Amino acid sequence: MLSLDMIVLGCADDRRAAEFWKGALGYVERDPHDPDAWLVLLPPDGSGPGLAMDLSDRPAPEFPHLHLDLHARDAVEQTAEVERLVALGAERVAWKHYPEDADFVVLADTEGNRFCVVDDSFGRTQPPGDDRTTADADTPESVPEPSAGSARGARPAAAGPPAAIVPDGVGEPGGPVVPRPSSTPAPGRPHSPGPVAPIAPTTPSTPSTPSTPPGTPPPPEHPPHAADADHGPTASASHEEPYLPDELAYAGPEHLDPEFVAGFDRKQGSPDPTPQLALLRDHGVDGTSRVVDLAAGTGRFALAAARRFGEVIAVDVSPAMVDHLRARVAAERLDNLRCVRAGFLSYRHQGPPADAVHTRHALHQLPDIWKAVALDRIGAMLRPGGLLVLSDLVFDCSPAEAEPLFRQWLENAPSGDPARGYTRDDYAEHLRTEHSTYRWLLEPMLERSGFEILRSDYEGRIFGSYLCRKSL
Ligand SMILES: C[S@@+](CC[C@H](N)C(=O)[O-])C[C@H]1O[C@@H](n2cnc3c(N)ncnc32)[C@H](O)[C@@H]1O
Repeated sequence: MLSLDMIVLGCADDRRAAEFWKGALGYVERDPHDPDAWLVLLPPDGSGPGLAMDLSDRPAPEFPHLHLDLHARDAVEQTAEVERLVALGAERVAWKHYPEDADFVVLADTEGNRFCVVDDSFGRTQPPGDDRTTADADTPESVPEPSAGSARGARPAAAGPPAAIVPDGVGEPGGPVVPRPSSTPAPGRPHSPGPVAPIAPTTPSTPSTPSTPPGTPPPPEHPPHAADADHGPTASASHEEPYLPDELAYAGPEHLDPEFVAGFDRKQGSPDPTPQLALLRDHGVDGTSRVVDLAAGTGRFALAAARRFGEVIAVDVSPAMVDHLRARVAAERLDNLRCVRAGFLSYRHQGPPADAVHTRHALHQLPDIWKAVALDRIGAMLRPGGLLVLSDLVFDCSPAEAEPLFRQWLENAPSGDPARGYTRDDYAEHLRTEHSTYRWLLEPMLERSGFEILRSDYEGRIFGSYLCRKSL
């Protein structure tokens, strides 16, 4: 007979998800010392299924077809556990489909994966001698008060997460009338499947590596150095959004190569982020602020920003860049810097809006139609009045001036060691294969995305730096 050995969770940030689930369930990491291994969590005594973190750029479904139920002994424990999970990073879901006397509370983990905390005592008599009542705890609206000392009534129709069984809009005024699928639990069946059936204990050291979940599109064809083959698909493209570009394929193969990444700061001349940090500080960004660094690379800006600002989220599409940055974050013990492997188009900002977004030398990776969408998404993750500091290779010239400007740029390129700086070949390759745009195209894109350009500076008509503010 088969056994349920591993539950595989999609997540944008596997480390963040693993930390949450470790705290939630008291699980331990299977391979804590292997940076290349899947992040797999196991119950410390080996009993029960493991949880594996599968990197995914796709949003967690609002109505998952499969979800986890975590059981609490009674409503008091349920309330306390919900509070604890929220403190660990879960979010309460404003679930519109709660029945009147729900025995469950819907939460989302740090990645948006919805799950339930279920009151296991629902419908049972309070144990003799247990004088706790739900009133002792901070009873959430969704947990009904039991009538004192009596058994709860028979459970009504299951609800949920009707997510799985009721399409969006059903049950809401004006929502469509959609017949329940045959898998819908019959009315009267409990919400949750009850305690997990006994499972043959797994051997903690040897659970199988989780497989790519059914229905997952095949991994994109990565450039040769893509280092995420283990981690499933990372492209934005999916069955639901087949029009989205594969951001990894546009990311520049060198950025996916761990060897190149190791020497990246040296090649870039270890750029100093002080001017950008000062600009942000001068515009009110401080030790309480939340800053997102998009396409963070090795984290020259993000690491320095984390030492000054409240919270920094460093996002990069390249697994090699993210691994490199994570190692530096761990070495510096910066617990206010979170790394997320995602792209401009696939990053899903969670939690409070950002006070500022920084992105340097990366927007050119996307063609113009996607630059505009990326800018729009940046606008959406910022609070009104939030700041965008953007620098990139942008050409400040007319089409007629373009080729002379390009030739001049190549002529003036440094001729030194390519390991220690960008060369003529690098510049030529950039022009041939990447998507730097014109100033007269970028600025309207910024404005269309709701940004006011507060300041712009150009260097050699090739490097543009912007400070923009999202309209109030
Ligand atoms: C030239 S590097 C700049 C890195 C960093 N911003 C800096 O200034 O040092 C470009 C970075 O963009 C990342 N990147 C490329 N395409 C991306 C995308 N679509 N979304 C997010 N990051 C991307 C690459 O992995 C790489 O780390």
